[in-house]
Amino acid sequence: MKDSFNREINYLRISVTDRCNFRCQYCLPSEGVALLPREQILSYEEILEVARAAVEVGINKFRITGGEPLVRPGVVGFLERLINLTGVKRVSLTTNGYLLGEYAEELSRLNLGSINIGLNTLQEARFKQITGVSNNRLVLKGIKKLVEYGFERVKINTVLLKNVNEDEILDFARLTGKYPVSVRFIEFMPCGKWSENMDKVLMGDEIISVIEKGLGRLNPESGVPGDGPARYFKLPDAQGTLGFIMPVTNPFCNRCNRLRLTSDGLIKSCLLSTERVNIKPWVSDPSVNSGAEPAEAHQKLVEMLKNIITKKPYAHEGCRDIQMSKIGG
Ligand code: GTP
Ligand code: 5AD
Ligand code: SF4
Repeated sequence: MKDSFNREINYLRISVTDRCNFRCQYCLPSEGVALLPREQILSYEEILEVARAAVEVGINKFRITGGEPLVRPGVVGFLERLINLTGVKRVSLTTNGYLLGEYAEELSRLNLGSINIGLNTLQEARFKQITGVSNNRLVLKGIKKLVEYGFERVKINTVLLKNVNEDEILDFARLTGKYPVSVRFIEFMPCGKWSENMDKVLMGDEIISVIEKGLGRLNPESGVPGDGPARYFKLPDAQGTLGFIMPVTNPFCNRCNRLRLTSDGLIKSCLLSTERVNIKPWVSDPSVNSGAEPAEAHQKLVEMLKNIITKKPYAHEGCRDIQMSKIGG
């Protein structure tokens, strides 16, 4: 359905866990990570109830995020169930890739839209500095495995930070010469405890000019499957594509198509707004619900989603208080 700014809302990002096996400073909240008690996390069954209601209001694209979604046990079975839900057109996954080696084969067999993998450096020492964990080879191996298994919709998400990884732009861009993947550069959004760090933002146009100077002309590329804000290009003779997501210098709120569901049952209608609506009382688990009959609860969920879409704000007021790690970007 459309919101009050005539935007078609057809995409729900579902965070299945607030837990993550990385500790990226720019993503974590300043007060440290207070993990949700497990009983507050929606069960897969409950998430599917929300998805069924979402389908009824016209949402047919879903993306699974975290925290890190692959740390939640049973996630592959859940993906399969969501893919098979009536009315669902595309289910995709965003992961940090650390466990991808273990899951690549199973995931490549599912009919997933894209698998988007956050990777901010190709250098091991720097990987440890940024993520807090060792072994970037695991992520690279996971990506290679997906390609080897013939999965064609791999996207690498690279958040660029000034004086941290900007010297790797060309190395990342060159990956598209070697592999049929999409490498996407994301402008860092200064949020949470990093909200004063505008000086860390590397602007999309600067990135483009570095690539064009180093590797040649970027030709616009249409037809990369996806439902997000990226604009795509291709280098001469490359196998893969380059994408740019520019939330800071080129905000895309006018074509925003999405809602978000947190792992504890809050709907956010804008990534960067602090407003949230608790839909948990209307999912079926009797220990948390309002006591409503399933049909009544479903109807209530549908109404709540409609109401949230109607009230979706046009844009955000900045992201000072946002916990990116809990929302999954
Ligand atoms: P595709 O369908 O493959 O294009 O997915 P996507 O780009 O929508 O999803 P992904 O999880 O890969 O998002 C990439 C990054 O873009 C996120 O980690 C965020 O940094 C940023 N991003 C995604 N959606 C939004 C949004 O609605 N608003 C803002 N400001 N940034 C977003
Ligand atoms: N700006 C842009 N992207 C961010 N992410 C996390 N924090 C930010 C930020 N401040 C991205 C991560 C990952 C996803 C969870 O969100 O790199 O791809
Ligand atoms: Fe949509 Fe909010 Fe992101 Fe803008 S900032 S694109 S309105 S989620």
